[in-house]
Amino acid sequence: MKRVFLLGYPITYSLSPAMHNAAFQAMGLDWRYALLSVTAGDLAGAVARLRWADCAGANVTTPHKEAIIAFLDDLGDMARKTGAVNTVLKRDGKLVGENTDVAGFMQALHDAGISPHDARIVLFGAGGAARAVSFGLAEAGVSGIVILNRSPARARQLAAMLQGHFPRLSLAINTSDALKDADIIVNATPVGMWPNVAESPMPPGSVCRRGAIAIDLVYYPGETRFLREAARCGAQTLGGLSMLVYQGALAFALWTGYAPPVQVMFQAARRALGEEGGG
Ligand SMILES: NC(=O)c1ccc[n+]([C@@H]2O[C@H](COP(=O)([O-])OP(=O)(O)OC[C@H]3O[C@@H](n4cnc5c(N)ncnc54)[C@H](OP(=O)(O)O)[C@@H]3O)[C@@H](O)[C@H]2O)c1
Repeated sequence: MKRVFLLGYPITYSLSPAMHNAAFQAMGLDWRYALLSVTAGDLAGAVARLRWADCAGANVTTPHKEAIIAFLDDLGDMARKTGAVNTVLKRDGKLVGENTDVAGFMQALHDAGISPHDARIVLFGAGGAARAVSFGLAEAGVSGIVILNRSPARARQLAAMLQGHFPRLSLAINTSDALKDADIIVNATPVGMWPNVAESPMPPGSVCRRGAIAIDLVYYPGETRFLREAARCGAQTLGGLSMLVYQGALAFALWTGYAPPVQVMFQAARRALGEEGGG
């Protein structure tokens, strides 16, 4: 049996095992996807586990998408550009870091009919997911990105990465005034994720404008407080489930070499979230 792991912390509420195990089963593969709860101090040991012969690769999530790079043998193009890894695969016995979050996020936007060209973006977060999302948006020709992050130093690192790749992109840090004029607001932090469902990344008293688009990378719960309040302001909303499925489908293709059964993955993820009667 081949194994694939999800490395992260906390990951108890991840839908990835349900989604990938359904995909492996649908493709007749004797593979298993399992959670590997890993804190920062355990990361080296967890990566060593990936080198065992039974392991075909991994997904990487909060808080390790940047830190894992130091333990890998090589990086694919998008992981190198963004400085963030969400997928590890094996090539000639080597551990190669890739980033499927960028393409997964952009596919989710496309499916929802959202075109970010010329849009003014406000992005909550400056971690691994924020790197992927902002890179995809910058590549798609947004007019500017305002990064709102708890730690300003990390926001500056993200801005420096973006400036290096997109020198003409307008960038600002921690100017929450920008929220009222934003065309697209993205939450790339875990704020609002179960069990902290009463939280929102929006500062108290701030609102988004009617016609704006609010996107939450959080997918559990399916509708977060951030999205509920944005909808009340008249914003279009998009939760994190479709990005989860698309980034997962691309990872599936990298590990197995097969075209992913995307509809099976959507169904399994929705069922696990409880949207199709599952638990
Ligand atoms: N739907 C999907 O497919 C998908 C894909 C990727 C990620 N995600 C979700 O996106 C979220 C971020 O993931 P990540 O990999 O980027 O994590 P990460 O690398 O650990 O970064 C977390 C970011 O959130 C901020 N943050 C964390 N806790 C916070 C709090 N209590 N208050 C304010 N800011 C806080 C951090 O700020 P500091 O810099 O100040 O620590 C950092 O900017 C997670 O919930 C993850 O599940 C979803």
